[in-house]
Amino acid sequence: MDSFELNKVAGAVLGTLLLAMGSGFVAELIYTAKPAGSAGYALPEPQPEAAGGGAAAAAVKAEPLPVRLASASVEKGTGAAKKCAACHSFEKGGPNKVGPHLWGVVDRQRAHEGGFEYSAALKEKGGTWTYDELDHFLANPKTYVPGTKMAFAGIQAPQERADVIAYLRSLADTPAPLPAVEKAAAEDKPADPKAPEEKPAQ
Ligand code: HEC
Repeated sequence: MDSFELNKVAGAVLGTLLLAMGSGFVAELIYTAKPAGSAGYALPEPQPEAAGGGAAAAAVKAEPLPVRLASASVEKGTGAAKKCAACHSFEKGGPNKVGPHLWGVVDRQRAHEGGFEYSAALKEKGGTWTYDELDHFLANPKTYVPGTKMAFAGIQAPQERADVIAYLRSLADTPAPLPAVEKAAAEDKPADPKAPEEKPAQ
């Protein structure tokens, strides 16, 4: 094989290599996936204010309970409490149903209605149902009392919870006093000099 022959072979090899590289390059130009960008529809994200959003987001934005209770509506609460009525009775001396009757539940000892089989979780929790605890429990029963028998998703909207609690408060011969707004408001916004004069609506 003379050098001319060798050159031909080398040329063929190089040519093949170049062709392979070149077509690879061209193929890359044609087929490289472009970043998808924002194809499709931008779905509206759920707004915490509008939809009730995540419980956490709502909880952060919620007014303190005493403030919410001061402006709560027993009437609206009565309506909202319809979703409890499948499991609870509200009238004085009412029967226990799937859940215990709820007459006088504000400040009532937890898990103490005679004749109702409470879950161990609720019995162990002990104490009484303060406004604040009702607020937390009703926001998400299963998170607040893990293991509770109350199969209820919770009320996301903070003001609706306050309305329901205001309704529960009304279910008593002598409704428990409302929590003081002054203190809670002063803690949250000390800059407002008018806040301490506000009286909770009775
Ligand atoms: C699907 C049935 C169901 C629904 C709906 C329901 N509950 Fe209950 N609730 C229960 C059960 C069952 C218990 C007992 C929980 C336990 O023992 O862990 C309970 C317990 C309670 C307690 C504690 C009572 C006590 O004596 O300690 C309160 C307060 C309460 N529910 C309020 C409400 C309110 C207010 C609503 C509506 C917003 C509601 N529940 C909706 C089933 C329900």
